[in-house]
Amino acid sequence: MCGIIGYCGPRPAADILVEGLKRLEYRGYDSAGICVRSEDDLSIYKKKGKIADLKAYLPETIAGSTGIGHTRWATHGEVNDVNAHPHSSGDGSIAIVHNGIVENFTPLREKLEEDGYEFVTETDSEVIVHLVDSLYEGDLERAVKRAVLLLKGTYGLVVMHKNEPGVLVGARNGSPLVLGIGESEMFLASDVTAIIAHTKQVVYIEDGEVVCLTADGYRTSDLKDRPVDKTIDVISWELEEIEKEGFTHYMEKEILEQPESILRAMQGRIESEYATGHLGGLNMTRQELLQVERVKIIAAGTSFYAGMVGAYLLESLARIPASAELASELRYRNPIVERNTVYFAVSQSGETADTLYAMRELQRKGARVLGICNVVGSTIPRESDGGVYIHSGPEIAVASTKAFTSQLTAFYLFALMLARMRDMSIEKGAELIRYLEAIPHLIDEVIDRKESLIPLARKYHRAEDFLFLGRGINYPVALEGALKLKEISYIHAEGYSAAEIKHGPIALINEETPSVFLVPDDALREKVISNMKEVKARSGQVIAIAVDGDDEVASIADDVFFVPRAHELMYPYLMVVPLQLFAYYTALELGRNVDQPRNLAKSVTVE
Ligand code: M6R
Repeated sequence: MCGIIGYCGPRPAADILVEGLKRLEYRGYDSAGICVRSEDDLSIYKKKGKIADLKAYLPETIAGSTGIGHTRWATHGEVNDVNAHPHSSGDGSIAIVHNGIVENFTPLREKLEEDGYEFVTETDSEVIVHLVDSLYEGDLERAVKRAVLLLKGTYGLVVMHKNEPGVLVGARNGSPLVLGIGESEMFLASDVTAIIAHTKQVVYIEDGEVVCLTADGYRTSDLKDRPVDKTIDVISWELEEIEKEGFTHYMEKEILEQPESILRAMQGRIESEYATGHLGGLNMTRQELLQVERVKIIAAGTSFYAGMVGAYLLESLARIPASAELASELRYRNPIVERNTVYFAVSQSGETADTLYAMRELQRKGARVLGICNVVGSTIPRESDGGVYIHSGPEIAVASTKAFTSQLTAFYLFALMLARMRDMSIEKGAELIRYLEAIPHLIDEVIDRKESLIPLARKYHRAEDFLFLGRGINYPVALEGALKLKEISYIHAEGYSAAEIKHGPIALINEETPSVFLVPDDALREKVISNMKEVKARSGQVIAIAVDGDDEVASIADDVFFVPRAHELMYPYLMVVPLQLFAYYTALELGRNVDQPRNLAKSVTVE
């Protein structure tokens, strides 16, 4: 989704802005632009396409050490140079970059047009610059405050005025904005990856706050002009973590990192002596945990599928009724908040609008909502009532991989904790911990076998449709496998419970539609094998992900990838990794842009 960077300091702003935009590329975008205050004027350069296109268009040197930059992910108006940000006022004295959606832009635009303002773009964002212009009386910060009070919708924005050299004003409502504090220089960005190369000291701007910065300082206040005291946080990520480090794609790097990222999610969270989990950030006493009668999980996309696995674990290990629901659906159906129910908002980015707004709706109704998030300091963990950071490290590829397995780990630990407070014996708890601790090593084994997925990708990459089929705890993994394939290869793929195909999807089966079956050696193995035979009987091609030594599955399937044997509740880890790799290799065969697939954004900050 759109990205923002702002800079004021002693260095040439253009270089820093372009470098920051490059680091924001992973969020997904379709055009980019910068504005620099150069020789008492604002110079704007913007281009449809990639940062490389913008770079090629920029003059060799751009004087000026204050500026703003933006990567746009179109919502209102087509993708072209004109609609790209920054936008400027008619006389070119003010420039803005904006993330979010101005919901009342039509009446605002009509009113501004009546007042003589001319619009040159089709964007909702352009109303903001004209509004600021109409309210400017020599004080940019004041004009921005008055302007945003008239906006309905969401914004993270940064504004500059040619008559206020070295000054940037940022404001936030619903779209993230973070201030970076450097040595005699300041940054504003929509996400810390844009500025981590320059500073690790950050201040998270909250909704309803405005920040005014110069190279030497900043002031934060609310819309009523009252000062707001902010704490300075220190980013724990290292710059190297957001580099590719020799890998061709971030996605490959992130898939292969999973043994370590899972270990990080577990570290310090297992109490071996009592054979239980320890999640310090939940902010819940043991008594409160004991009173939990139901767990509900809200999320989107891959995080939702992790939540489905989590619900399965909570029911089977802790015997607590649990369910996962799409956050986008929950929010608009007036959810009933029940007593003794704990909610989890699961989100890699911690900024997904659907999940965030659903969380706020639940909190408004009195619910306790815990977060399971990756990005430290993002909005969901900051606004939740407690939770778990999964510590995957930065996930840059749009397709989520390592966050999924770390989210699972958080759920295993939470389920173990609740189970041990209820029926699970210390022996059973210790056994589960042993299985869990073995996972990083078992995933290493899966990764060692990755080359054998390449011929499969070669064989099947021309298929136009795929089915992914699993059961029980691996049903959400089938859904995740289908999502991974479709989002990065653009092949149509559907995930189903293997039991469901006879209720409809089996009509799709022919020799051109491969089915990927997940066949762990669990209680449902025989049933899944029957479903495989049903597909084979209809000339369907079958790719099976099965367990070492399962000759029966190998004899039925056209192709098989073996994973090591494990406890039946642990297979989601071992089944998902080959599916991630299969999607990756298939996308490579098709020459897709693996890390930045078309139309997608890493962090979806609009509804
Ligand atoms: O940051 P989040 O986990 O909240 O993101 C949710 C989805 O947007 C995300 O999982 C999306 O489906 C990914 N592209 C999946 O790979």
